[in-house]
Amino acid sequence: MNEIIIYGSCYGTTKQYAEELAKRTGYELVSYEDVDDVNTYKTIIYLGGLYAGGVMGMKKTLKKLTDISDKKIIIATVGLADPTDKENRENIRNKMKSQLSKDIFENATILHLRGGIDYSKLNFKHKTMMGMVYKKAVNLPEEKKNAEVRAMIETYDKQAYFVDFDSLNIIINSI
Ligand SMILES: Cc1cc2nc3c(=O)[nH]c(=O)nc-3n(C[C@H](O)[C@H](O)[C@H](O)COP(=O)(O)O)c2cc1C
Repeated sequence: MNEIIIYGSCYGTTKQYAEELAKRTGYELVSYEDVDDVNTYKTIIYLGGLYAGGVMGMKKTLKKLTDISDKKIIIATVGLADPTDKENRENIRNKMKSQLSKDIFENATILHLRGGIDYSKLNFKHKTMMGMVYKKAVNLPEEKKNAEVRAMIETYDKQAYFVDFDSLNIIINSI
C-alpha cells in the first residue's frame, strides 16, 4: 500500500480518530512507535496529540523522511483547546515550525482536531504538569486568557470529551 496513517497518542483520543480515519479510507494504520520505513509511502497522514505544544511522536517520525517531492503529507494535531479559534491554530503552527524541517512545514497540509481529557487517567507526571499550568492560568488577567488557557481552566480536574468523527472530513477532503 502507498498510503499510511501514523498516530501518536498517550490516552487514546488521537488513536480513536486514527482508527476511524483508517476505517473510512482503508489506509494502513500504525502507531508512530511501530513505523518501519516511512519513506516507502506516497501519502502520509500523521495524527498526533498535543503535549505542551509538541505533537506526540511527529518530530521523531517525520525527520526520517529523506525526499518529500513526490509525497503528500497531512498532519493533524489533536488538542484540548478549540481549533476553530484562529489564535490557537496560529500558536500550534508556530510551535510545529520548530519540530519540522522547513520543507515539510511548508509543504504539508496542517489541520487541527479536538480531543479530550480525563484527569482520573493522567499519569503522575502529566497530573503534576497540569496542576502547575492551572495555578499559573487561573491567576492570569482575563484579557490574557486565550482559548488554550480557557479550555485548560474549564476542564481542570474533570473529564472532557470533544472527539467528533465528523471533523475527520477536513482530512478526507484534503487527501
Ligand atoms: C501534560 C499535558 C499537556 C497538554 N498540552 C496541551 C497543549 O499544549 N495544547 C492543547 O490543545 N492540549 C494539550 N493537552 C491536551 C491533550 O492534547 C488532549 O488531551 C489530547 O486529546 C490528547 O491526545 P491523546 O488522548 O491521544 O493522548 C495536554 C494534556 C496534557 C496531559
